[in-house]
Amino acid sequence: MKILKEQFANPQGNLGKLSGLLMQIKDKNQSSWVVANSKVKPKSSVLEVGFGPGLGIESASGFAFEGFVAGIDISDIMLQTATKRNSEKIRQGKVELLKGDVMEIPFEDYYFDLVFSVNSIQYWEDVQESLREIKRVLKDNGEIAIAMHPYWLETEADCIQLREKITKEVQAAGFKNVKANLLYLKPVTAFCIYGLK
Ligand SMILES: C[S@@+](CC[C@H](N)C(=O)[O-])C[C@H]1O[C@@H](n2cnc3c(N)ncnc32)[C@H](O)[C@@H]1O
Repeated sequence: MKILKEQFANPQGNLGKLSGLLMQIKDKNQSSWVVANSKVKPKSSVLEVGFGPGLGIESASGFAFEGFVAGIDISDIMLQTATKRNSEKIRQGKVELLKGDVMEIPFEDYYFDLVFSVNSIQYWEDVQESLREIKRVLKDNGEIAIAMHPYWLETEADCIQLREKITKEVQAAGFKNVKANLLYLKPVTAFCIYGLK
């Protein structure tokens, strides 16, 4: 179980490929739900942090079909998998995927309309610093969306507590109009925290 947890945090080698497959089964429609409920527009520039196997990138490039979608992930194996999945859009210059850490996003200030992340924040070394780095690359009034399906929690009460903790983190990083959307999955409810710069 510990090995699998480590693989979800930073997938590597064959076990990393396996965890990427599990992410695809678990993620299913979660990323498109996150993007569909955001303020994304056809011409938006979008960044996904921790794209894993690349389903969220695929979905975001469908919504922002006249815009630009970038992604960063710390894992080489996920970069390979997601690059393969999105190869056509990468070739067209509509998608760019890079190896990178949320604490040091390789884009300039005020670049994106939307930065989203699904099932990744629990692995970030310093959440406040990471949220401030996301804020740096967002345009004024740009949107953050941080989603999680905490399937390892046993009760809805634990889930609410975690949701409130992340909501407070997003507020503490200086985002306004912070709200949570819920997605009723098993064994516990998934959530996405949205906020504006
Ligand atoms: C559990 S997977 C989720 C992948 C995908 N978003 C999904 O929901 O299927 C977590 C991903 O976050 C990435 N990750 C973890 N820490 C990160 C960091 N500090 N910066 C960027 N990506 C990170 C991992 O490499 C992994 O691909």
